[in-house]
Amino acid sequence: MDKLRVAVIGLRFGMAHIEGAMGCGAEIAAICDVDRRHLDFAGARYDIPMEKRFTDYRELLDRDDIDAAVVAVPDQQHRELSCAFLRAGKHVLCEKPMALTLSDVRDMIRAGDESGRQLMVGQICRFTPAFRQAKALVDGGVLGDLYYLESEYAHDYMNIVDNWRADPLRHGVIGGGCHAVDLLRWLGGDPEEVFAYGTKRLLPQVPYDDATVAVLKFDAATMGKVFVSTGCKRDYTMRTVLYGTRGTLICDNTSPTMTLFTVGEDGMAGEAQTIDVEVNNHNARLEFEAFAEAIRSGGCVPTDAREGAKTVEVCLSIIESAKTGRPVCPNYDF
Ligand SMILES: NC(=O)c1ccc[n+]([C@@H]2O[C@H](COP(=O)([O-])OP(=O)(O)OC[C@H]3O[C@@H](n4cnc5c(N)ncnc54)[C@H](O)[C@@H]3O)[C@@H](O)[C@H]2O)c1
Repeated sequence: MDKLRVAVIGLRFGMAHIEGAMGCGAEIAAICDVDRRHLDFAGARYDIPMEKRFTDYRELLDRDDIDAAVVAVPDQQHRELSCAFLRAGKHVLCEKPMALTLSDVRDMIRAGDESGRQLMVGQICRFTPAFRQAKALVDGGVLGDLYYLESEYAHDYMNIVDNWRADPLRHGVIGGGCHAVDLLRWLGGDPEEVFAYGTKRLLPQVPYDDATVAVLKFDAATMGKVFVSTGCKRDYTMRTVLYGTRGTLICDNTSPTMTLFTVGEDGMAGEAQTIDVEVNNHNARLEFEAFAEAIRSGGCVPTDAREGAKTVEVCLSIIESAKTGRPVCPNYDF
């Protein structure tokens, strides 16, 4: 395959994917949005000819000039569109969260398995420069063994929840909090148990808690915490702190610096080191590059269907724990 030919469906956040795909040299074979205004806006912005603009994704399924689809429509439709494109023989990069229910997640895993095509879930934080550096430091042993990890997703949704985001199924912990959950899973592994509290103080228009705190038990020696606030009164942050036996790292997807402490020969932490880092919290180009490379080489996408499903499972376990007041053990049997 010379040039990957991509269709991008859903043209709001989807525009970041058009740029990501174009930045990797892929061809935008089609764009699609049910809303003509969004379709024409994106079409004009990226100079996409009229014959490549569609309002119904089903018209794209049988086209043999499309290799892959980016599904960037509301979360409730991820299953329908991803399964349809996979069954039509296209590779799929589906936005996070993979889906809002386990039943949808299982359908998507099955469609991926049966089609033999790539299904990647766009957990974009794995491509954020600060978090990639954090992962390299953890994997390189610079922090020693992690014994505590925390991440927060604090993002004021005040003006963006009068739509599909107000669905009870689209709880903040899964909608946006999946970023922090996925990040901790990537850095610390799969939590064995979660326990959570929730509160609703800031967003009267949503039918779910607008703030949740969850404690995670990774294994006997490692703990974690996720805080999600979708009504917070501050700028967007995903402040993340990793405590290890040989050092501590403080980083964020919106900060140009990270702070690293490492131990000296006396076993004490030295001076704080400030590390400059690029701020790029929606690194769609690197994400698309990983997707395209897996298709080209027949290798694995970084967040395949089962990986996306595990993040959904942890989010749902946190929501259940906050509701029932009981600890919940996620079930990773996908
Ligand atoms: N990775 C990230 O950081 C990030 C950021 C924002 C949004 N998202 C995800 O991207 C997806 C889209 O979010 P958004 O913010 O762009 O939402 P949005 O509501 O702003 O836009 C969704 C777009 O999809 C279109 N659409 C809806 N149903 C469609 C269909 N069946 N076929 C074609 N087009 C359809 C709508 O008309 C609209 O233009 C969601 O899954 C969301 O969770 C991810």
